[in-house]
Amino acid sequence: MHKQIENVRQDVGPNSSSFVLDFDDSLVSSLGQRQPNLSRMRAEFRRVVKQVRNDLRQPRRIGVQIEWFARERDEKLLAVGIDHGLRDFRRVFSFASGTSFHQQIFPDATLSLGFSATAMHWLSRLPATLGDHVHVVGAHGAIRDAFAAQAAADWETILLHRARELVPGGQLVLANLCIDEAGRYSGGSGGHDTFGMFARHWRTLYEDGTITSHELHRATFVQYFRTIPEFRAPFDDPASAVSRAGLVLEHCSSVLTPVKHFTAGAQDAATYAREFIASIRAFSESTFLDALEAGRPQTEREAIVDRFYAAYEAEVAATPEDHRRDAVHCFMRVAKVV
Ligand SMILES: C[S@@+](CC[C@H](N)C(=O)[O-])C[C@H]1O[C@@H](n2cnc3c(N)ncnc32)[C@H](O)[C@@H]1O
Repeated sequence: MHKQIENVRQDVGPNSSSFVLDFDDSLVSSLGQRQPNLSRMRAEFRRVVKQVRNDLRQPRRIGVQIEWFARERDEKLLAVGIDHGLRDFRRVFSFASGTSFHQQIFPDATLSLGFSATAMHWLSRLPATLGDHVHVVGAHGAIRDAFAAQAAADWETILLHRARELVPGGQLVLANLCIDEAGRYSGGSGGHDTFGMFARHWRTLYEDGTITSHELHRATFVQYFRTIPEFRAPFDDPASAVSRAGLVLEHCSSVLTPVKHFTAGAQDAATYAREFIASIRAFSESTFLDALEAGRPQTEREAIVDRFYAAYEAEVAATPEDHRRDAVHCFMRVAKVV
């Protein structure tokens, strides 16, 4: 029985990243089989992600969009994976599920290794809207508390679902965006804060009469970057539901990975600004498109969002060294002991 299930693996919140492909590559290699054509797979994954993103330009509610995005893309990426390499592997079988990680994805006691990178900062619901900012990193008091409470409840739910899915002795490897011990987070690790910039440029659109006050307030990321103590909390309490479900934290550390920095001489400011904005637009555009009234024609909605990013890009081009992004992760290894 154990032999039958020992290689069941899961990647929740997958994407086109080399992170997950390298991870899968090393696991496939560990089965002693030949290498897949990774560069072809990566190129094709990127093409599919871009295509799905373009298909997304329809007004929808944020939560619905996230789920739809995950489901549609997972199905297409599964097809890519099978067409470009995985089908060549004996004893390797691919499955994609459109199920949110806020729900149980696998049956009880079937999962050997669960993996997730850079995804669990997306909350299951928006606990509050922000009047003067677009992200909870800029919130205080009761509003910040409401996000923290939602993030704690979601974290427990995510872990309890994984606890049910894991076999005894199974493990989770998680790389989640966090606020590290020095208070740094992705977008807020030095130079201009990305979310502060978003908030300022979005407000400019309100002040020049382009968007309504309703649209100003609707632009709120359904995200929360947990602190290290918040990630640890369910494990540090032996009486918590997570500890009682048999999950034990075996490793926890924060890691800052430099991702985008301007290097004078290596590239020109305009190119850096274009690439910088493209990389942050990928995860942020749906939040701003969704904030606009559904009654606006689609071309108008896109024009407003284009103008928003163009203004930000001009600012990056003027002072590229002040705009950078680091990935700030909390790396965790969790074992299921009973
Ligand atoms: C920044 S990407 C990270 C992708 C990849 N794991 C990596 O390391 O680059 C976040 C992903 O999480 C997915 N996601 C967000 N909320 C989710 C949820 N509730 N369930 C499953 N996936 C979700 C998004 O669709 C997106 O693909």
